[in-house]
Amino acid sequence: MKKNVLIVHAHPEPTSLTHQLVQVTRQTLEKGGHQVSSSDLYGMHWKAVFDEHDFPARLNRRRLSFIEESGHAYSTGQQTADVTAEQEKLLAADALILQFPLWWFGMPAILKGWVDRVFAYGLAYGYKGEGNRYRYGDGGLKGKRALLSVIVGGPAEDYGPRGINGPLEELLFPITHGMLFFAGMEVLPTHAVYGSGRMTEAAVEEAKEGWRTRLERLFEDAPIPFRPQNGGDYPDRHMLANHVASGQSGLRAHIEAPRT
Ligand SMILES: Cc1cc2nc3c(=O)[nH]c(=O)nc-3n(C[C@H](O)[C@H](O)[C@H](O)COP(=O)(O)O)c2cc1C
Repeated sequence: MKKNVLIVHAHPEPTSLTHQLVQVTRQTLEKGGHQVSSSDLYGMHWKAVFDEHDFPARLNRRRLSFIEESGHAYSTGQQTADVTAEQEKLLAADALILQFPLWWFGMPAILKGWVDRVFAYGLAYGYKGEGNRYRYGDGGLKGKRALLSVIVGGPAEDYGPRGINGPLEELLFPITHGMLFFAGMEVLPTHAVYGSGRMTEAAVEEAKEGWRTRLERLFEDAPIPFRPQNGGDYPDRHMLANHVASGQSGLRAHIEAPRT
């Protein structure tokens, strides 16, 4: 079935591997009959910094409270035009793909600034003005899929189960779980291309082919089984019940173990 996909990407160099893979995304999805929109954050000179200029019509001029002003601006239609346009693209999408080079074990600042500014109170958090009632699997972006496509300078071994940098999926937990699942989206396992600094032409072709294959299953692959806040595992909405993931702590406790 035809779906709508938004690609948000962040690399300053138009010939970079990131941009080449963005092209693959667009071509593959369009070939599959999907409708694709995109936001080239460097190309559009996206304002990365979330600050007082995001609130032209302030509730409180004396002291800037981001959450209050965000909720007010969102609910009264007084956000800046660039933020409104991105929210419209996001709300129209069935899937969101974030494509970016790994910079200091996270996303480039310009992409973090897209999340900071676009994920408004009332939309991605504080849904329906109800604080934390709707989060982690529930919220304004529920029903959408999300997928990270990360271009990584270091080799795969550095990011393996015992690799020196730590496993990539764990390093990206604040994005997959803390931003995307938080806002209600189903998040697919991350797609990474490693060793991006020195790739032969053949390796680039292989990376493109791997990404094409992955994209073909965008609407079929199983998401990461993060535990939803409102599914019973967190009776007080804050902590795991004692009988859930007993004896476990840390990030992994928030992912359901595969059924055996
Ligand atoms: C500011 C900056 C931070 C980086 N941080 C990391 C990092 O944490 N881990 C890593 O493996 N590579 C890191 N790299 C290397 C990039 O991931 C690599 O240059 C990028 O994936 C190359 O992709 P491209 O061909 O699309 O530019 C960093 C590069 C820059 C410029």
